[in-house]
Amino acid sequence: KISGPLSGKKLIVSAGPTYEAIDPVRFIGNHSSGKMGYAIAEEALKNGAEVILVSGPVHIKPPIGVQLIKVTSAVEMYDAVHSYIGDMDIAVMSAAVADYRPSAPADEKIKKKGDSIQFEMVPNPDILKSIGLNKKPNQFIVGFALETENELENAKSKLIKKNLDLIVLNSLKDKGAGFGGDTNQVKLIEPNNKVTSIQLKSKQEIAADIISKIIELID
Ligand code: C5P
Repeated sequence: KISGPLSGKKLIVSAGPTYEAIDPVRFIGNHSSGKMGYAIAEEALKNGAEVILVSGPVHIKPPIGVQLIKVTSAVEMYDAVHSYIGDMDIAVMSAAVADYRPSAPADEKIKKKGDSIQFEMVPNPDILKSIGLNKKPNQFIVGFALETENELENAKSKLIKKNLDLIVLNSLKDKGAGFGGDTNQVKLIEPNNKVTSIQLKSKQEIAADIISKIIELID
């Protein structure tokens, strides 16, 4: 076990996409690679934390020493996060959770017929918002925001609405930032409106900066 500034702290990370079933063989998903969340889990371990990684379906290896909880759908991710959150000191929700799911996934593979097909979609629970609004006194909750317009304003209002302690803003407009790639460019926004801009660098380095900021703020 590594000792560091997060020794004795329990941290939960959500990462990757969620898959929302349409039928037994099909789903609605997204292109999240999980790299950002896995990098955060690794940096937290390096700093001495005990880490639970709740992960949607991804193709990368979990860092050694992490407790990996594999989930598929948003509802499963919600249940997994909620079953551990009571014990956690820090939560970093970096998963790309589907906002909606098909209301009634078919029990059998849907057959091709006719010209068009419709699915009714119902909203998924917002995991981050639920843990933010039910935050315990000493818990520190971090969210992510991916915005295409009024980025800072939208991220700040998300921070307030979800009762977060820090929000990481990804800008899709910045080259090399966001989904899939190995690099990212972000802004860290605190409740007092302090903004720390982090230049384009590897997701591992960004993760280290996010963990440093968390350590600074929980002190
Ligand atoms: O509101 P929005 O979806 O933009 O917020 C993004 C943040 O909320 C991310 O941290 C994401 O992991 C989290 N989230 C969540 N559960 C959802 C939707 C988003 O935890 N159902």
